[in-house]
Amino acid sequence: MTIGRTVYLNGKFCPVEDATISPFDRGFLLAHAAYEVTSVYDGRFIDLEGHLSRLRRTLEGISIPNPYSDEQWAEIHSELIDKNGMEEGTVYLEVTAGDYGMRDFAGPETFTPTVFLYSDARPLIGDLGRDGIRAITLGDTRWKRRDMKTVQLLSQALAYRAAREAGAETAFMVEDGLVTEAASANAWIVDADGKLITRELSHSILPGITRAGIVSLLKADGLEIIERAFTPEEAASATEVFTTSSGAIVAPVVALDGKPVGDGKPGPVTRRIQRLYYEAMGADVAAVAPWALG
Ligand code: PDD
Repeated sequence: MTIGRTVYLNGKFCPVEDATISPFDRGFLLAHAAYEVTSVYDGRFIDLEGHLSRLRRTLEGISIPNPYSDEQWAEIHSELIDKNGMEEGTVYLEVTAGDYGMRDFAGPETFTPTVFLYSDARPLIGDLGRDGIRAITLGDTRWKRRDMKTVQLLSQALAYRAAREAGAETAFMVEDGLVTEAASANAWIVDADGKLITRELSHSILPGITRAGIVSLLKADGLEIIERAFTPEEAASATEVFTTSSGAIVAPVVALDGKPVGDGKPGPVTRRIQRLYYEAMGADVAAVAPWALG
């Protein structure tokens, strides 16, 4: 993980150490902010349009005016990775409801946003995709509008801490006896009949951009997907479990609550999905992820 030296703050590119914001910013005081994390592979953004359209929906949902057009957003993203010479990794963007020099719950009628972006260079196709991760299950304590990508991430931060404490890398969150999603990724299982299951979209989960990309690739490839919620018990007895996100792309889950998933190794359906998605990213799979070829 290498944070690029140049960041973007409120209309300007500057060195990271010069990027300062007010302690009265509503993002800091109230978590009143939207964010996006977009993957970059071989110097290209993966579905930036999808991220920008989700950003528009989140901003609308939390009463923050969208400060830029999609073209302007795309320009800022490209300039940021150019300035940092980043070919592979992610770009983080955050738009907060801004600073009014006071702590006031309702705030002004119209917000003037704070905009911040940074780039993080790291391999998107690597050890994690090859070897998989371990997950725990725990209660989902988040608010009810998880379809909006806001920086209210305390539940997820605590979930990651609990996972680490248990010797795992992530957590599957459970509500009313059903898995909602992973702490920062969508969750998928493969059942004993080889059927692929992921939770349907609703206010309960984030509509993942990676999830959407995989759904369309799989449909084109003739693989059936069942969009429904599943229980932690179904996940524990699934033949394969994996997560999808812009940060980790397709991550096989090889253990759940300390017990192996299937034979404890990434399975063939996960490998097929990795291969399809990596190819769609423009990767030379034989060179960068021979393990995904099965
Ligand atoms: N997280 N669900 C949650 C709760 C997430 O935080 C994320 C992404 C996803 C997957 O969405 P996408 O495919 O659009 O990345 C699902 C990002 C990567 C993060 O918080 O760093």
